[in-house]
Amino acid sequence: SQAVSSLQQVCEPSAYSDDDCADMDWDNLRFGLVPTDYMYSMKCSDYREFEQGQLSRYGKIELSPSAGVLNYGQASCCHMYLFMFEGLFEGLKAYRKENGQLILFRPDQNAIRMDIGAKRMCMPCPSIDQFIDAVKQIALANKRWVPPPGKGSLYIRPLLMGSGAILGLAPAPEYTFLVFASPVGNYFKEGLAPLNLYVEEEFHRATPGGAGGVKTISNYAPVLKALGRAKNRGFSDVLYLDSVNKRNLEEVSSCNILIVKGNVISTPATNGTILEGITRKSIIEIARDCGFQVEERAIPVDELVDADEVFSTGTAVVIAPVGSITYGDKRTEYKTGAGSVCGELHSTLVGIQRGHN
Ligand code: COI
Repeated sequence: SQAVSSLQQVCEPSAYSDDDCADMDWDNLRFGLVPTDYMYSMKCSDYREFEQGQLSRYGKIELSPSAGVLNYGQASCCHMYLFMFEGLFEGLKAYRKENGQLILFRPDQNAIRMDIGAKRMCMPCPSIDQFIDAVKQIALANKRWVPPPGKGSLYIRPLLMGSGAILGLAPAPEYTFLVFASPVGNYFKEGLAPLNLYVEEEFHRATPGGAGGVKTISNYAPVLKALGRAKNRGFSDVLYLDSVNKRNLEEVSSCNILIVKGNVISTPATNGTILEGITRKSIIEIARDCGFQVEERAIPVDELVDADEVFSTGTAVVIAPVGSITYGDKRTEYKTGAGSVCGELHSTLVGIQRGHN
């Protein structure tokens, strides 16, 4: 897909040898924190511009007990009302090409998404150029932690938080933009094997008028209960339904969802309750380029029984095939593997992300 691959950003043209990589077991990389050498931070006071960003050794940060992020950022269960303030994150990946170049997948899209989220949460945000510059600095400063080609990626985690002290419910007087990174492998313990999802009927991820569509930290703690319960029952993750009709598909705790029926790929329309996934958006563009019809619409849960394939997309997840979905006491199985639409889209996307196309 020309449109998607033109949005790649190369951040270091240089020769590469295996010695350039940190000494670790690259063949058994999972999605877990491996502390790297440097982090980046930049502050903004009194709603002026962010300035004086700098790299420092990766380590603990100092935060006031009354920092906005600690007091109001994760106030979750009434999420429609309480989580108006202070805490956004992003996730993007750097890959090492065979020729040693480091390549970032669409960092501008993360910068734009953080800016939109910051407006929703009443926070100032670094400019797109500042965001991309910080991400490039982090990738380069930690380049020995970017896995060898084909072994994984460097997951880069930008955070934006209200670091200023505040007691009453109001925007904090100071904000910190922080970026750290960790080498990662496959997100799910299943590796590349198909996922088994469970349709959650008690809990909901987001509500209309809330902030489900932005990448605020407060969208993640509330899913842990349903996720833990599903994992204890042997499922990979939870598929949420909309909170109004309890009928339409929303998303999985950690990724978006797409279903395939013949030549048509459908995914829930993002209407404020569903995260605007960058991988979701890229796959829609790639699928259309490949001749699929893509529909963004409300998808009743009943359609799951007729789908040929289901798959999920996300930065951490990339594209994961879904082998089965359990809704109530009904389990539906889907086509995966050789010849699947998911497989075709996966190889195109991964080729672009790793700089092959
Ligand atoms: C990502 O895909 O980058 C995310 O932020 C999801 C997170 C649950 C790992």
